[in-house]
Amino acid sequence: MFSSLFIVSILTALSSVAAKGPAAVNLRTAGNFAILAKTGVSTVPPSVITGSVAVSPISATGLTGFSLTVDPSGQSSTSIQVVGKLFAASYAAPTPSTLTTAISDMGTAFTDATGRANPNFSNLANGAIGGLTLAPGLYKWTSPVSIGSDVTISGGATDTWIFQVTGTLTVAAGKKMVLKGGALAKNIVWVTTGSVTVASGSHIEGVVLGKTAITLQTGATANSRLLSQTFVALQKATVTN
Ligand SMILES: *[C@@H]1O[C@H](CO)[C@@H](O)[C@H](O)[C@H]1NC(C)=O
Repeated sequence: MFSSLFIVSILTALSSVAAKGPAAVNLRTAGNFAILAKTGVSTVPPSVITGSVAVSPISATGLTGFSLTVDPSGQSSTSIQVVGKLFAASYAAPTPSTLTTAISDMGTAFTDATGRANPNFSNLANGAIGGLTLAPGLYKWTSPVSIGSDVTISGGATDTWIFQVTGTLTVAAGKKMVLKGGALAKNIVWVTTGSVTVASGSHIEGVVLGKTAITLQTGATANSRLLSQTFVALQKATVTN
């Protein structure tokens, strides 16, 4: 009696009604980049980045350790460490204006994410969240957050998380964020007023909106976008979005 399309429509409607967590943070054009930073992106080779990398307003001198080859167009460059293109404010048009917009969009997204009110969880575990399982919602800490053992982010594919951190976010060496139940990194936002340090061999999931530096130490991996208002430093790291 019912067409399968009809049933799929009903199920889709039900699952979207059932989605838990805050409204998504709109990254606008900042979401076109795996790594976006204002003052630089450095790598200690070999890192592996899947996606585009960009710096603005700093020039291409802000891209260090990549052994860049500038494209004939002058609009972008390539590196053996990047599956994608690299861009800088000093490249040929239209790159500078594209990047100015992306940096502005990153600022808008940061302001949106930090401005969300009425958290579901305030100062959970005083910021020491290793070992916890984190359900969808808005989380706010008025302190730094540290992850000293594996943390699980559990929810469905349409559920959302925003983690507001006042100060630094630190993941200890060899520890990881684990997704469960179909949770997707694109629906997870870490917004921090301080620096983010992902120590050696550790792993993070989600979009990072950092007011300051984001550092992935030796062998760290990220299923992420790293969007920093200062710089991103990679040490033999892997970033995939
Ligand atoms: C989170 O808080 C908001 C606003 O108070 C509320 O509408 C929502 O149901 C809460 N979500 C969860 C998962 O508790």
